Amino acid sequence: MTSGYRIGILLAVCVSGLLYGGIAQGEPEAKTLRGNVARGKTLFVRNCAGCHGTAGGGDGYRLLGQDPANLTAPSTSRKSDAELLKTIHNGKPNMPAWKGNLSESQSRDVLAYVRTLGK
Ligand code: HEC
Repeated sequence: MTSGYRIGILLAVCVSGLLYGGIAQGEPEAKTLRGNVARGKTLFVRNCAGCHGTAGGGDGYRLLGQDPANLTAPSTSRKSDAELLKTIHNGKPNMPAWKGNLSESQSRDVLAYVRTLGK
């Protein structure tokens, strides 16, 4: 390996580090939107929209008892990621638990999408 080649690699690593840092700083919501919204939307439409409605308004399929949550409501937006992830993982009496079907990163993708609904 020539030293010029090595310097080239070093430069590439530095530049990508700078780029990454720049993106992370330029996005104040990076922390809450760690998940991928586009992937989350696909998962949501497939798994959640039946009950929560495509726009998350809670206007989907209703069972006896607790109606599906209106995910666009402030009462949901106010909750922490941890709280909402817990509901997605463990379910509620009228909501199935998803931890067996959605991986950790899929749950975060779907949460990222849910976070876009309240705006
Ligand atoms: C069978 C119907 C059903 C399906 C399918 C369903 N949910 Fe729910 N969901 C509910 C119901 C009912 C509640 C309200 C539960 C309660 O408050 O007791 C709820 C509550 C929630 C909450 C909590 C909202 C809050 O403000 O605390 C989140 C987040 C949520 N659902 C996300 C999802 C996601 C994401 C999916 C798909 C992976 C999903 N749900 C699929 C019925 C469903």
